[in-house]
Amino acid sequence: MARLVVISNRVADPRKPAAGGLAVALGESLQQTGGLWFGWSGTIVEDGPTGEGEMHRQQAGKVTLATLDLSREDHDAYYLGYSNKVLWPVFHNRLDLANFDAGFIGGYRRVNQLFARKLLPLLQPDDIIWVHDYHLIPLAAELRAMGCKQKIGFFLHIPLPPQIILAAIPQHEWLMRSLFAYDVVGFQAQQDVQHFDRYVSNEAHGESLGHDRFRAWGQTVRASAFPIGIDVDEFLALTHAKEARDMHETMKREYSQRRLLLGIDRLDYSKGIPQRARAFRELLARYPENHRSATLIQIASPTREDVDAYGDIRRELESLCGAINGDYGELDWMPVRYIHRTVARKRVPGLCRAAAVGLVTPLRDGMNLVAKEYVAAQDPADPGVLVLSRFAGAAEQLKEALLVNPYDTHGTAETIQQALHMPLEERRARHQKLLARIREQDVHWWRRTFLEALRDAPGVE
Ligand code: G6P
Repeated sequence: MARLVVISNRVADPRKPAAGGLAVALGESLQQTGGLWFGWSGTIVEDGPTGEGEMHRQQAGKVTLATLDLSREDHDAYYLGYSNKVLWPVFHNRLDLANFDAGFIGGYRRVNQLFARKLLPLLQPDDIIWVHDYHLIPLAAELRAMGCKQKIGFFLHIPLPPQIILAAIPQHEWLMRSLFAYDVVGFQAQQDVQHFDRYVSNEAHGESLGHDRFRAWGQTVRASAFPIGIDVDEFLALTHAKEARDMHETMKREYSQRRLLLGIDRLDYSKGIPQRARAFRELLARYPENHRSATLIQIASPTREDVDAYGDIRRELESLCGAINGDYGELDWMPVRYIHRTVARKRVPGLCRAAAVGLVTPLRDGMNLVAKEYVAAQDPADPGVLVLSRFAGAAEQLKEALLVNPYDTHGTAETIQQALHMPLEERRARHQKLLARIREQDVHWWRRTFLEALRDAPGVE
């Protein structure tokens, strides 16, 4: 069987718990098949030469990890700059937060070329190559230019924005053209495929050939939705393990007289955390019966702190949580428990199971695996209710959640109230359908269907 080669900016030892949906999903996929995982080592070399990086190799069970150091200059332009100040905000519809500094693109190209150059000698002729996420859009084009003939697939973990927003990136045409160097391009949601289709026909003067095949710039690519999932069985095992059960017991004891609402996110402006806090404040204002009862636990793990927009969102959220606690708190009840730390993955299921309401309300999100984890962690006999943003990719699948528009504070508050009062029978019925859906399209289904599509692709001559 062909070896699987996975390339992503973040690489994590698949045997250890990782933060972030991408690393967890890739770790779980690779552990099934074995193979090579290639990416950035996480090390920044101050004063290191640009376009160069030392490679490290490590064996992690069946998976070989090969990672590269990056020089400070490359890291800042490629990762902090182009990836996180251009692509991330624009792909999440936040043109107001984008910084189109002309210096970033050089570093982005340089690191993609460096990755291609260092990866090429590690490749075997019948490898299947799977590139992940917005940091590495031009990687296949660079590899092809160096003579790579293997099949290469790309999966975008974040949304693809509408054509009109994408076109604000000065290099949009180059980026989209780069996607045509892949054999298969995977998106999270059907809506992303529609945005791709519109871009190809209107902006690139290309055409849709049917069956998810598209032609532009003299090249053909397959582009389909492959919604990413979780490893349901592994998550259920975590749910029933000691750490999660202990966590669940502690929460039940500590909050025995309260109703818990839970948010678990990276502290990212795309996650809609201040909007969520405002909806919670509105709930308290409109429905005083929730005073001394409803408690929002918001875990917001630190992320990308070297990017200004992340400092701004932190300050906004902290002042908001302080104001809500100041306005509504009592000596024996604080409405918001805000935690700016990463919570150990083993404790997540226990937390989820103790929460009557799971709040997953991003302003925009490729998929959002916390929504799926919240569902998987529930007690089927007495499940909590998922309140989910219609702007998360997960909303295309999880139709039995209570869908909200997170910009609509009033509507979201009303929906949270509905969730807190949903009768047991309805909770059970919704949960059963949601669980069936996340089981059907789990992380193994995602890996299998993407790799089948890639194997079936015609390939290059
Ligand atoms: C999102 C992205 C991933 C990224 C993760 C954590 O899930 O899609 O590519 O790895 O966030 O962000 P970071 O910048 O720390 O890798």
